[in-house]
Amino acid sequence: MWNLENKKAIVTGGTKGIGKAAVIEFLKLGAEVLFTARNETEVRSLENELKKKGYKVHGLTADSSKKEDNQNMVDWVSSNWGKLDILVNNAGINIRKQASDYSEEEFRKVLEINLIAPFEISRILHPFLKESGNASIINVASSAAIQDVGTGTPYAMSKSGLLQQSRSLAVEWAQDGIRVNSVSPWFTKTPLTEGYLHNDKKMNSILKRTPLNRVAEAEEISAIISFLAMDKSSFITGQNIVADGGMSINAL
Ligand SMILES: NC(=O)c1ccc[n+]([C@@H]2O[C@H](COP(=O)([O-])OP(=O)(O)OC[C@H]3O[C@@H](n4cnc5c(N)ncnc54)[C@H](OP(=O)(O)O)[C@@H]3O)[C@@H](O)[C@H]2O)c1
Repeated sequence: MWNLENKKAIVTGGTKGIGKAAVIEFLKLGAEVLFTARNETEVRSLENELKKKGYKVHGLTADSSKKEDNQNMVDWVSSNWGKLDILVNNAGINIRKQASDYSEEEFRKVLEINLIAPFEISRILHPFLKESGNASIINVASSAAIQDVGTGTPYAMSKSGLLQQSRSLAVEWAQDGIRVNSVSPWFTKTPLTEGYLHNDKKMNSILKRTPLNRVAEAEEISAIISFLAMDKSSFITGQNIVADGGMSINAL
């Protein structure tokens, strides 16, 4: 069971960072993967690169916060697979500001993509996950879901909401053979955090708080996502696995 052979998996936000690492690891573990992202050129380029390596991989240009794009994803699953074993709600964004400085459009966008979209996508794919009879949803949350880590309030709200979304769906859908868990990374080297981590002052304050004295690689997060996707984690549901190099247990 230390593999994903014969599994059909969707990863949202699969062209970069943690999502891309999950796509590649799933493929190496034997899954067939459909990944999404908004940038068409990047979707096609990654799909071609991975197809050339012989993987069963499909890219779909889709914005997870758009109803019609999500319907396209459902139609794709319906006509190609008829079931779904793994759903990774990974697509996420941040707009980092002081609370009073957000426009309504800005904070609603963060909540739409990070919190509402995973709920909508999980719901519309529920019949296919149920059809699997042995499915796993993994929601990518954040350390910001549990502590204030200076990300801005809407991002923190969206990720803490996502943790409870995972717990509540885990209970509701256990009878359908669907497990639902979260992974909460601390700072991880990806395009999302590139600018922030290049700021020496910010990087030093992160390292000071982190006993392992470094930030994570995307592959260290995709390893946890892969474990939660596997049947090896079959008795784990409604949980949040924190990957933070010891940050949250470091009081001084
Ligand atoms: N990196 C960190 O330190 C860190 C820490 C904690 C949690 N996280 C969480 O981990 C997840 C991945 O983060 P990351 O750092 O890998 O981000 P990233 O490097 O910015 O990559 C995000 C991916 O999601 C896609 N995406 C963004 N919005 C989308 C949307 N509305 N619909 C579909 N795809 C979308 C992006 O492609 P397009 O732009 O082309 O759509 C890209 O492929 C996020 O949920 C983030 O909140 C990251």
